[in-house]
Amino acid sequence: MKKKARTHFICQECGAEAAQWAGKCFECGAWNSLVEFKEAKNSSNVASDKIRGIQNAQNLESFAKDSAHSRVLTGFPEVDRVLGGGLMWNSLLLLGGVPGIGKSTLLLQIAGKLGTSLKTLIISGEESGLQVADRAKRLKIDLASVNFISTNNLDEAIDVVNKENPQFVIVDSVQTLASPSLESSAGTVSQVREIAQKFMELTKGHERITVLVGHVTKEGTIAGPKLLEHMVDAVFYFENLNEGALRILRTQKNRFGSAFEAAVFEMQGEGLREVLNPSMEFLSERQENYPGTTVVPHVEGTRCFLFEAQALVQRCFHGFPRRTFQGIDQNRVALLLAVLEKHGFDFSNSDVYAKITSGGRVEEPAADLALAAALVSARINQTLPKDTIFIGELGLTGELRSVQHLDMRIQEAKRMGFKKFYVPQRATTTFEKDVIRIATLTQLKEKLWSKVRYESSSAELSQ
Ligand code: TYD
Ligand code: MG
Repeated sequence: MKKKARTHFICQECGAEAAQWAGKCFECGAWNSLVEFKEAKNSSNVASDKIRGIQNAQNLESFAKDSAHSRVLTGFPEVDRVLGGGLMWNSLLLLGGVPGIGKSTLLLQIAGKLGTSLKTLIISGEESGLQVADRAKRLKIDLASVNFISTNNLDEAIDVVNKENPQFVIVDSVQTLASPSLESSAGTVSQVREIAQKFMELTKGHERITVLVGHVTKEGTIAGPKLLEHMVDAVFYFENLNEGALRILRTQKNRFGSAFEAAVFEMQGEGLREVLNPSMEFLSERQENYPGTTVVPHVEGTRCFLFEAQALVQRCFHGFPRRTFQGIDQNRVALLLAVLEKHGFDFSNSDVYAKITSGGRVEEPAADLALAAALVSARINQTLPKDTIFIGELGLTGELRSVQHLDMRIQEAKRMGFKKFYVPQRATTTFEKDVIRIATLTQLKEKLWSKVRYESSSAELSQ
């Protein structure tokens, strides 16, 4: 039955639907986020289409039997780990990232590996077959194993999928395909929603895996609607880790695995290479005999990366002291500085700079103690012991609090040659003989900086 086109409004932030336009979303409270959405005239009503026969309920055991066959390995162990153990049959995934980051390259490399055993199709609205073939040659992919169409027409893309019946489909990108039955142009909320909806129908129950590529805007969201994230099974972001060639693949959402996984890649002349030992790359240019630097073990998912944390404290010569931070939350450092002030380290007449190097971002409370140690080290111009790592959350009274994944952090740091670990008094760890337990910042001060003479009237601390 043909349906009449219905107009309603969709919030770009949360995906809520409203019959009338309003300045504020009734669901999430976002302002100016409602955008008009015209349903395609011929779009099928999923609910009524589905009720064809009544299916029999089965116990969970019968589903579990199939689970061993439900994953497809990509040939990239790091990608498989981020996916939660490989690609899941019948799943619709979204890969987001800024233009030029390497989304198409990563997916072409995966298609190249999968192409030897699965029927693979790339639908590109951005590149021609010649361009992709050239790139595939450079990536040393067997050109015969990957199928390709170049189109901006959603209907044509759907017809090709139905005709060719591929098992692995890449849609590059959701912003460059458009359904002719919608009036709006490519990349708008109604178009992107329609594309996701159509590929969901083409994927679920068809023994197929589909990856949608979405370009990310400067603000860091998928261009156009955020609601795309709600529609798919898993969302991954490909991001720059630094100004150079390192990239990080992060999970944002995953119905089939952990939502906090991450893997590191390097863009080379012949495509992306998995970086199996990121800590070594992150620490390779460290100046360990310099005040204000230490190493932070940072956990993402099941992985621990070691980043270098640096602080620089300068006497302030012009009125209002500067506070400039990179890769660390401004409020977190402000809090740490307040606690350090309370414990006798005067930063009031100093400019304070702090950063995580290699483009790292550390938001965990577990990094508090390391950051505090780096700040003090920079302030008193005294290096920290270079084989030592500081782990712990710092409370406002200067108490050290336990953190998650302590053993994982110590293990990774030991692997990289670190020997001593300052940890919170009550933390539990299996590395008992390597740790030094401290309950408060005062205790750390006694152990490390007891010889530092503090003169509150002077901006300088001296030994
Ligand atoms: P691309 O995958 O096209 O990015 P996206 O699809 O996210 O827009 O990657 C483009 C960049 O990657 C481009 O600047 C060239 C670079 N690149 C390499 O450095 N080495 C390679 O082997 C390939 C294929 C691309
Ligand atoms: Mg691309």
